[in-house]
Amino acid sequence: MNNFTFYSPTEFVFGKDTELRTGKLCKEHGATKVMIVYGGGSVVKSGLLDRVMKSLESENISFITFGGIQPNPVDTNVYEGITLAKNENVDFLLSVGGGSVIDTVKAIAAGVPYDGDFWDFFALKSIPQKALKSGVVLTIAAAGSEGSGNSVITKVDGALKLSIRTDKLLRPVFAVMNPELTYTLPPFQTACGITDMIAHILERYFSNTVGVEISDRLAEGTLMAIIEEAPKVFKNPKDYDARANIMWSGMIAHNGTCGVGRAEDWASHFMEHEISAVYDVAHGAGLAVVFPAWLTWMADHHPFKVAQFAKRVWSVECKGDDKQIALEGIKCFKEFLASIGMPLNFTELGIPNPDIDLLVKKLHTNKGLTVGAYYSLSEKDTREIFETMK
Ligand code: NZQ
Ligand code: ZN
Repeated sequence: MNNFTFYSPTEFVFGKDTELRTGKLCKEHGATKVMIVYGGGSVVKSGLLDRVMKSLESENISFITFGGIQPNPVDTNVYEGITLAKNENVDFLLSVGGGSVIDTVKAIAAGVPYDGDFWDFFALKSIPQKALKSGVVLTIAAAGSEGSGNSVITKVDGALKLSIRTDKLLRPVFAVMNPELTYTLPPFQTACGITDMIAHILERYFSNTVGVEISDRLAEGTLMAIIEEAPKVFKNPKDYDARANIMWSGMIAHNGTCGVGRAEDWASHFMEHEISAVYDVAHGAGLAVVFPAWLTWMADHHPFKVAQFAKRVWSVECKGDDKQIALEGIKCFKEFLASIGMPLNFTELGIPNPDIDLLVKKLHTNKGLTVGAYYSLSEKDTREIFETMK
C-alpha cells in the first residue's frame, strides 16, 4: 500500500426533508449573501428551489439565483456566474442540482477571487489558491461531485472538456442528500448516474499497486451494493431505501475512500470526456460504451485484475485462465448495463459515424502520449479500443 493522506471535510446531511436545513447550514458556514445556482429547470418544477429559498429566508440570509446550467457544463456559464457573483458581492455559492451545477459552482468559486481567466486552472497554467465556499443540495446520484474537490468544464471554443482536481480547496463545505429528491429523475438519468458511480470505483480498482485489500474490498462491496439496489429503483422509483443506498454509493464511489493507497487509472474517463465533449452525450451513457471496451482490451493485454473483478463482483466460477474468467465477468457487466437501459456501442449512444481520428487526437493532445496507470495506453491502443466501440 502506498503512503496517502485522506481529507474529506464535507458535512453530509443525509435523509428525508434535509433540504429544509439548507438555510441553517449556510449560516453555520458563515454565508451572508448566497448565490443559488441550478440547472435547466427540474428544481423549479419539483418545488425544491422554492423550499431552499424559504429555508434561506427563514434564516434572514439574502440570496440571488442563477439558473440555466446545462448538462456537460460550459465555460460561458462560468464566466456569467463569476461576473454576477462579483457584482452582487456574493460570499457563498449554493448548488441545487447534480454534477453539472456543482462543477460550475466550483469553477465560479475559484474564479471569483482570481484576477486572471478561470480557464487558466483547467489549462494547467495556474493553480487556484483561494475560493468562495460552496454547499450542495444534491438532486441526482451520479458524478459524486458533492464529495470531491474536482470540477469538469467544457470550453465551448474547441470542445475541450477538462478537469481540475484539488485536494481541499473546492470540496463543498456541506452536502444535503435527500434520496427523495431523486424520485423525479427520468430512468435514463438514473441509469447514467449508476453507470458513472460504478466507473468511479473501477477507475480506482484497476491498479497494479499490491497490498490494498481494504480498498479492494470496499470497492467490491460498494459495487455489489449498487448492482443489487439498481434494479429496485427501476422497479419502483420511489423505493426510499434503494434510492438512499444508491445515493450514498455515489458519494463513496468518488470521495476517495476506494482509492487510497494506490495508483488510479482514469483512462476510461479521459476517453469518455472526449466523446461527451465532441458529441455532447450524457457522461454515464458514454462510460457504458467505453468501460466494457476498455475491460475487453485489458482481458487480452493485462487481465489479472479484470479476472478478480469477475470472480469477486460477478461470482464467475474459476474455470479457465484469467482471460476467460475476465471475459465472463465483462459479459455479466454488459448484461447489467443493458438491463438498466444503457447503450453498449457508438450507434446505441446515438453516434453512428464516430470520428475516431478526432477522438484519439484530442485525447492525446489533452492528456499526453499515454493515458492510464493500470496499463499505459498509447495512441495505437486507444485507437484500437475506440474502434471496438463501433
Ligand atoms: O438541468 P436540470 O433541469 O436540473 O436537469 C438535469 C439534467 O438534465 C437532470 N436532473 C438532475 N436532477 C434531477 C433531474 N431531473 C429530474 N429530477 C431530478 N431530481 O439530470 C440531467 C443531468 O444532470 P447533471 O448534473 O448533468 O448530471 P450528473 O450529476 O451526472 O453530472 C454530469 C457532469 O459531471 C461531470 C460529467 O463529466 C458531466 O459533465 N463529472 C464530474 C465529476 C466531478 N466533479 O468529480 C466526476 C465525473 O466523473 C464526471 O466527469
Ligand atoms: Zn464520471
